[in-house]
Amino acid sequence: MCYMSRLILILLIRHFLCLCFGMSECYFAIPLKIYAGKYNVSSSALNVTSLRGVTSDGGGLSLASDPTGKVNFLDMVNNLEGDSGRGYYIEMSIGTPGQPMNILVDTGSSNFAVAAAPHPFITHYFNPALSSTYVSTGIDVSVRYTQGNWEGELGVDQISILKGPNGTISINIAAILSSEGFFLPGINWQGILGLAYPKLARPDSSVEPFFNSMVKQLEIPDIFSLQMCGAGLSASNTADPAGGSLIMGGVEPTLYRGSVWYTPVIEEWYYNVEVLKLEVGDQNLDLDCREYNMDKAIVDSGTTMLRLPVNVFNAVVEAITRSSLIQDFSSGFWDGTKLACWMKGETPWRFFPKLSIYLRATNTSQSFRITILPQLYIQPIKDVDGMLDCFRFGVSSSANGLVIGATVMEGFYVVFDRAQRRVGFALSSCAVSGGVALSEVDGPFSAADVAADCSNRMFKESVMWVVSYALMAICAMVLIILLLLLVLPLRRRHRSGEITDESSLVRHRIK
Ligand SMILES: *[C@@H]1O[C@H](CO)[C@@H](O)[C@H](O)[C@H]1NC(C)=O
Ligand SMILES: *[C@@H]1O[C@H](CO)[C@@H](O)[C@H](O)[C@H]1NC(C)=O
Ligand SMILES: *[C@@H]1O[C@H](CO)[C@@H](O)[C@H](O)[C@H]1NC(C)=O
Ligand SMILES: *[C@@H]1O[C@H](CO)[C@@H](O)[C@H](O)[C@H]1NC(C)=O
Repeated sequence: MCYMSRLILILLIRHFLCLCFGMSECYFAIPLKIYAGKYNVSSSALNVTSLRGVTSDGGGLSLASDPTGKVNFLDMVNNLEGDSGRGYYIEMSIGTPGQPMNILVDTGSSNFAVAAAPHPFITHYFNPALSSTYVSTGIDVSVRYTQGNWEGELGVDQISILKGPNGTISINIAAILSSEGFFLPGINWQGILGLAYPKLARPDSSVEPFFNSMVKQLEIPDIFSLQMCGAGLSASNTADPAGGSLIMGGVEPTLYRGSVWYTPVIEEWYYNVEVLKLEVGDQNLDLDCREYNMDKAIVDSGTTMLRLPVNVFNAVVEAITRSSLIQDFSSGFWDGTKLACWMKGETPWRFFPKLSIYLRATNTSQSFRITILPQLYIQPIKDVDGMLDCFRFGVSSSANGLVIGATVMEGFYVVFDRAQRRVGFALSSCAVSGGVALSEVDGPFSAADVAADCSNRMFKESVMWVVSYALMAICAMVLIILLLLLVLPLRRRHRSGEITDESSLVRHRIK
């Protein structure tokens, strides 16, 4: 009885301490939403006359720039493989002698982790015992993502990236020993490279993230940029993945056209940005701009979809339905459980509007907009049926914020300028189909028509204060109650033993 209440007390205290002093540390999940590939096609076949088949050129890069500085960016071009559905990965050599691994590039988390035990969905794994440079710390670590989780042990080892900056660096590695829903069928990667800020690192922010270590040890600029080239390609089990580039240390001019538009990182944990407005076709959704950032808006290469807060998602679906002239979509298409199919060779894209996201510009009284064509968000799924071309909706609803995922990122060359605390978007050289650009970047626009702060930061902060005071009060009350509960049984035991209530009172008095 006493043991039980003490145990409950300890659990409650931990729980409340967690709530009182580290809300965000304890209870947020890191988004990783890779399409798992289960669809029911039979009930959602649509046969609509459409454009001729369009093929995408994922590899038409012109490598014309003259490399400058100590890092040769051209050597990093095309160092990624993958697609939006199963993620983009880079090859690394881990340990001594090097064990080659494919590592998922994820800007929505901050741990570097690699499989260190067999799993049915991976071909090979890192064996720390075979690396002479591996040092275990004995510290357990686990990370929970929007989808899936893993547990493992923290260690330190040397890595090098063949198509990355020259040199070997010593980095924190989480050796994954068990996982659930993290490795998926059809993936060709064995680990994850979390490129976000230390605040998201587990078990805590003292575990220096990969890119922080790389910047320190190789003395490269604190900036990386990402081009993902799966636009218009099938997001399911095709044999040859699309590819892309992760440029570490700067920006490679051959990977984009026009200028780079930057939006401030409003808080350094995720790449947390501020969305001011959404348009479907040319029509403004006209929601309160705080709705778009409820409860945050982030740029995340490890999330497949463009994810929108529920209210925003519903408004987008309604606007698309209104402007697409296609009335007979089953709701299953919008919620992602069904595909829409057309006769082979026909493409449905001309029936759908463009989507535009307005982001706060670095001049905060201005904004710029990134626009994706339907080719990016009505995504072909291959090999479903010989007669049909089937497509899924690349937008989904979210309970934990707006996520600019691969669906959108595939249209742009995205610059993560950590040194200047901003994320840049430019037209990607590979988001082109049949000579037509699949994305647009325009600006500047006046931001006078929206609130000065759409990010919910002020709101969140004031709520946090109120909540934490309230919780502290509750903590105190619960502590008192539990202490009483602990004391009372003791007193009762005393009563039943030799010492009477009276004598204990006497003893107290004597004291
Ligand atoms: C697919 O949908 C049809 C009709 O809604 C249903 O009868 C069938 O069982 C479903 N198949 C699968 C594999 O879910
Ligand atoms: C579309 O075509 C497929 C294959 O020819 C057929 O099975 C399906 O019933 C058609 N759907 C509609 C809505 O006509
Ligand atoms: C690495 O060093 C080699 C030889 O000095 C050089 O040719 C290459 O461009 C360098 N790679 C990078 C990414 O800087
Ligand atoms: C920022 O934008 C406003 C409105 O367009 C403009 O008046 C102002 O000059 C800009 N500030 C800077 C520093 O460019």
